[in-house]
Amino acid sequence: MSTELVEDESQFYCKAKKYWKAVPATVDGMLGGYGHISSIDLSGSKKFLQRFIRDGSHKIGTSYALDCGAGIGRITKRLLLPVFKSVDMVDITDDFLSKAKSYLGEDAKRIGNFYCCGLQEFTPEPNRYDLIWIQWVIGHLTDAHLVEFLKRCKAGLQPNGIIVIKDNITQEGVILDDVDSSICRDMDVLKKIIKQAGLSFLAQEKQENFPEEIYHVFSIAMR
Ligand SMILES: C[S@@+](CC[C@H](N)C(=O)[O-])C[C@H]1O[C@@H](n2cnc3c(N)ncnc32)[C@H](O)[C@@H]1O
Repeated sequence: MSTELVEDESQFYCKAKKYWKAVPATVDGMLGGYGHISSIDLSGSKKFLQRFIRDGSHKIGTSYALDCGAGIGRITKRLLLPVFKSVDMVDITDDFLSKAKSYLGEDAKRIGNFYCCGLQEFTPEPNRYDLIWIQWVIGHLTDAHLVEFLKRCKAGLQPNGIIVIKDNITQEGVILDDVDSSICRDMDVLKKIIKQAGLSFLAQEKQENFPEEIYHVFSIAMR
């Protein structure tokens, strides 16, 4: 698993923090130069989320959501705030959270909390959230930290709440990116982590219409 690739854990986290500090607080910055795919991504996410909003056995409430690795609030603005009464945001980069206050405009007043914190140290408030959305950030956590973080997320859910991870998935194996200091896992490894966290799998969907040269991206819902 990814543990073997991360030789020095504190360096792994330090390097990522430094990397993001130097990235512009823009949609393009959030997406590593792929700002033009933001709308496709958000449309895919809306479609995926809809199945949990409308009636059905997995129906969730629409009061509180948590955006993890939220950045400037790209997802909060166009996916979460249109559905949920209030959204909390957590990210390690303080400049991104500061930018969110202007990027979200009038809607910034519906942000309950801006938490500037690494997910490896963050504990969501227990029993609070209808939805915890974790996109393009799990690669910045080691396997052990991801398991523990997901356990804390589970405790942060309302009785009907769900967690969604949307992220890059390799065809096979785990790949380290030394530039932004992240790891990309395959589906088997990720599903093992989800199981270890005591979560049950609800649904998964592959994001369509992304450029061919990038990793495949999947949304996975669990509770
Ligand atoms: C690829 S961007 C994605 C931002 C947002 N999820 C989106 O899709 O627009 C990764 C984000 O993760 C944040 N990040 C990196 N390491 C983190 C960590 N250990 N804990 C919390 N946030 C982290 C970065 O500051 C950055 O905002």
